Amino acid sequence: MHERWLEERHHEHYYKLAKKLDYRSRASFKLMQIDDRFNILREGDRVVDLGAAPGGWLQVAKERVGEEGVVVGVDLRPIRPLEGVQTIVGDITEDSTMRRLLEIFEGQADVILSDMAPNIAGHYSTDHARSVNLCEYAVGVADRILKKEGRMVMKVFYGDMFNDLKRQLEARFRSVKVHSPDASRPTSSEMYVICKGYFARTRVKVAEDEVREERKPRFTVKGNLS
Ligand SMILES: C[S@@+](CC[C@H](N)C(=O)[O-])C[C@H]1O[C@@H](n2cnc3c(N)ncnc32)[C@H](O)[C@@H]1O
Repeated sequence: MHERWLEERHHEHYYKLAKKLDYRSRASFKLMQIDDRFNILREGDRVVDLGAAPGGWLQVAKERVGEEGVVVGVDLRPIRPLEGVQTIVGDITEDSTMRRLLEIFEGQADVILSDMAPNIAGHYSTDHARSVNLCEYAVGVADRILKKEGRMVMKVFYGDMFNDLKRQLEARFRSVKVHSPDASRPTSSEMYVICKGYFARTRVKVAEDEVREERKPRFTVKGNLS
């Protein structure tokens, strides 16, 4: 009972704050809190936000990277236009979406954000497995467009496959930390993985014609994939 009361009060607090400050979602505060603590977004950065609808993280990212920065949001659902932000309606598990990102970033993204969440089945291990699967696609995006020393923040629903995912990240980044911002619901199983210092050893080299042509890309792997 007390837990439910806390949960409702927490939800209400961030909901009202988002309305008052004109953010599109309560999730905006999660990214603000993560960025205040871990210094992910910097002036002029080129950022891709996976699972970006309705756009709360995009608003925060654009504010923080400024005029010179580039912010691109991807989601299955259309995102209402936001000044200075490019959006793509697409599924990150499809090659055509990856190809759009390759064209835009040409291997030069500074930051990858992912707040992607699967459709909730309500079954703990199914939701966890689907969430980890989306995270693995986000790692695939990193291996194609993230710059050396780039940063990545991604949401995952905690469960028994988490340690394996963490190992995949540790094979790519100098620093991998797990964090739960205050704006996350207190009873939620979601957590955020904060990765810094991409080594680029797992980088996937993409030939120019593979980006443009409407056919399945033939990616070649440089270095060891974990
Ligand atoms: C929690 S919401 C993101 C909220 C967002 N960060 C904000 O601040 O407004 C999760 C999003 O992930 C998106 N998503 C789930 N699977 C996806 C996929 N395969 N490709 C792209 N987006 C996906 C969903 O459509 C949903 O909009």
